[in-house]
Amino acid sequence: MPMPYSALSHLDCPRCGTRLDADRVQGTCACGSPLLARYDLSQVASQVGPDDIAGRPADLWRYHELLPVREGARVVSLGESMTPLLAMPRMGRALGVPGLLMKDEGLLPTGTFKARGAAVGVSRAAELGVTAIAMPTNGNAGAAWSAYAARAGMRSLIVMPVGAPAVARAECAAAGAEVYLVDGLIGDAGRLVAEAVGRRPGYQNVTTLREPYRIEGKKTMGLEIAEQLGWRMPGVIVYPTGGGVGLIGIYKALRELAELGWVSGGLPRLVAVQAAGCAPIVKAFQAGAAESEPWPGAKTAAFGLTVPKALGDFLVLEALYATGGTAVAVTDEALLADQREVARLEGSFICPEGAAGFAAVRQLRASGWLSEADEVVVLNTGTGLIYPEVMPARVPVLPPCGSIPP
Ligand SMILES: Cc1ncc(COP(=O)(O)O)c(C=O)c1O
Ligand SMILES: [Zn+2]
Repeated sequence: MPMPYSALSHLDCPRCGTRLDADRVQGTCACGSPLLARYDLSQVASQVGPDDIAGRPADLWRYHELLPVREGARVVSLGESMTPLLAMPRMGRALGVPGLLMKDEGLLPTGTFKARGAAVGVSRAAELGVTAIAMPTNGNAGAAWSAYAARAGMRSLIVMPVGAPAVARAECAAAGAEVYLVDGLIGDAGRLVAEAVGRRPGYQNVTTLREPYRIEGKKTMGLEIAEQLGWRMPGVIVYPTGGGVGLIGIYKALRELAELGWVSGGLPRLVAVQAAGCAPIVKAFQAGAAESEPWPGAKTAAFGLTVPKALGDFLVLEALYATGGTAVAVTDEALLADQREVARLEGSFICPEGAAGFAAVRQLRASGWLSEADEVVVLNTGTGLIYPEVMPARVPVLPPCGSIPP
């Protein structure tokens, strides 16, 4: 049988095992759990290999057999190129982890890794006939999904907290989205969206993990890391965790690669990083729990991490336990200090969420959980340029006739 563009076979429920048709628009399982996309990996393994991938364009669609879009012509793209996996020698030395690497997602369309989920999610939704999407967001996902929706000729309805970064609001509005702010948090936005979708036929609710394909886009972070290391896994992957989709996606990617036989060796230890002002997954991990409890009064400068209760918390925790990973909380003070350190030592202006990852490495090295010999990949999930408000720069203003100090 010739290899189709996608090897997608079906959807299944990781909680109760129900199997569902992947060629219809689906939300969550009847049991409430997110659904995961499954592929015919034995067919992929028998017909495609790393050498085939190597000859393809350097964007996330190079892994198309492992993505859900059935026809290449249906791909909605804004040029979501592979992102650099950068050595961080000076920051690594400062942290006592010389083998430090950063996957820099700030170069993607709309400036964050959210473009991956949006590119794949919108492409697949459009392929299945969806013409309007609705979602709550902490800002960056809304910016990405409204951009890809515009590119696909789809309508979008976006609801975000009033505290979300102002630039995301502007991006959504510019893309022609119907945008609302809610004087609350992302869960409040989610309730408003669910209610609106119930009253608006034709809108698909694409809330985090309430549709199965955003995670497939985020999975490509894991595929790229393995390929960029020469089809090998790093020792540790550190991920700033809000809803946790990226971490679940990376874990899924690495397991699929192991099953394909494209990589060997054990899985990396996965680390979920949260902000001290909103750390439900860390609290659950420390208690050895299977699920998290809603975090009261959530607040952090790393706004994307303000998720008091994630639908996929049990999947994040499972990935941490299964890989011998851990979960750590870092203060805003620590993450903002490391945002500055990364720019000063390496020249990269990263987002506060990504900076939380470096603050976590600092903490884990001090506690001995990380050693000097570890190869550690930190995900910088977005560019610092979209958060002008968190990095105040006090610089002198000179009169035209003034002079610069000697
Ligand atoms: C820049 C940034 N990093 C990380 C996250 C958390 O992502 P996830 O939902 O994959 O945990 C977000 C979510 O809004 C974000 O905007
Ligand atoms: Zn189920």
